[in-house]
Parts: sequence; structure tokens; C-alpha cells
Amino acid sequence: MEVDWNVDPEVNRMGWKALNSVPGEVSARCEKLDLIIDIGGGSGSFGNKARSSHPEAMVVCIDLEPRVIDNDVRHILGSGLDLPFKDSSADLVTVHAMLHHVPDELDKALKEIKRVLRPGGFLIIQEPLDRNPFANIVRKRITTTHHDEGEKPLPFNDLEEVVKRYFKTDRVDHHFITFYLMPHIVPRMPGPLKGITRALSRVAFKIDNRLLTSSPKSRKWAAYVNIVANNP
Ligand SMILES: C[S@@+](CC[C@H](N)C(=O)[O-])C[C@H]1O[C@@H](n2cnc3c(N)ncnc32)[C@H](O)[C@@H]1O
Repeated sequence: MEVDWNVDPEVNRMGWKALNSVPGEVSARCEKLDLIIDIGGGSGSFGNKARSSHPEAMVVCIDLEPRVIDNDVRHILGSGLDLPFKDSSADLVTVHAMLHHVPDELDKALKEIKRVLRPGGFLIIQEPLDRNPFANIVRKRITTTHHDEGEKPLPFNDLEEVVKRYFKTDRVDHHFITFYLMPHIVPRMPGPLKGITRALSRVAFKIDNRLLTSSPKSRKWAAYVNIVANNP
């Protein structure tokens, strides 16, 4: 069964606030930020968030299928596995939900990022993981207009391991256990139940955060990971 991609904006914003704030937090830590490369960036809006403390930075989004919107981002058609940039040219590389489109080529992708990122530069990666029980039940039965056949959420440790091979990991945090599907469930509920489901989403979000911070073992069930790394 294929369904449309449809999320409740309020619940989605609450859930993704922490993940979406990472580019801004990293931007504030950078002394120099001239070039930001957003790999598989679509519209480039994720990389563009990293201009918050450095409005002078140029954001270049490279994607197989760019989705250009008016956001002051330069778009290049190309592959994240063969970046058309000089060695050590980028101050920051951002990758949001692209690597799980090349699950068998993680090493190649990270090696290429290592080549273009200058020493001292930062890397931000956010990707879906493959052990969230709720997401997996749905993945078996439903595809969405937003997903393609080749993509595969990444095994829990694989991404972290490959990142460590090339970079110094600065921060790894896991997100969403019971909450993950809530932004998709709310708009599908009949009118009177929408409010209740929104309230349940807030509870699920709090439970997840408490669980993920207090019990490291629970992280294997997380649906998403955020990794910030530095090129030593
Ligand atoms: C799930 S979308 C994420 C888009 C964007 N990063 C965002 O967060 O909205 C994945 C993107 O990766 C792109 N992509 C997939 N494989 C790629 C590759 N080998 N090189 C560059 N882009 C790729 C797709 O075209 C798509 O735009």
C-alpha cells in the first residue's frame, strides 16, 4: 500500500526541534564558516540552518535530484559519492537522510566527505535507524510517496563505526522510540480524536526523551540518530 506523506506540523515541529537546532548550534561553535556543503540536501534547507551564526557562508547543496526553493542556496546536480569539490575546501558538511540511500557505500561516502572537509571542520549527520519496532511494523506494510526502493534505514552501530574511522566523534544522540510515527498518525485521525492524539504525542515525546537519556540500552530502539563529528 502506498500513502501520501502527510504530517501534523505542530507535532512534527515539537519532535524535530532538537534535531533541527543542531546546525545552528554547530554554526555558533565555528570561528570560520565560508563553505557549507549539504550532501543529498534536496532543497538545501538543512545545511542552510548552519548559516545562523555565519550569514556570510555559502551553502552548496549537491543532490541527484535537487529541489530548488528560494533559500539562497546554490544547487549542484551530482552524487555524494563523488563530490565535485577540492580537497579540504569545506568548513562544514551536513548530511540529512541521504546516507540510508547508499547503505552499502557508507565507507565510500565518508571517505569522500573526509577528503573535502578541511582539518578542524565539522560534520553533521542525521539518519534513520533500523531497529525501531513501530517504524518496522509500518515499513513492512506501507510505502510512502516520500520514499524510494533503494533506501534502507541503517543498522544501529554501522554509521557510528564508519564515522569513527575517519573523524573524531563529538556528539551522538538518539531520538524517537514511541513518538516516531505520531506526526503521521495525527492527521489521519478523525476530527475529535486529533486533539487527543496530539496530547498523546507530547506524552510519547517526553517518555522517549526520559528513556533515551536514562537508559543507554534503550537507544538501540531509536528511530533516528544525530552525529556531530570533527575532522582532526
Ligand atoms: C530523504 S531525502 C532528504 C533530503 C534533504 N536532506 C532533507 O532533509 O530534506 C534524500 C535525498 O538524498 C538524495 N540522494 C540519494 N542518493 C544520493 C546520492 N548518491 N548523492 C546525492 N544525493 C542523493 C535524494 O535525491 C534526496 O533528495
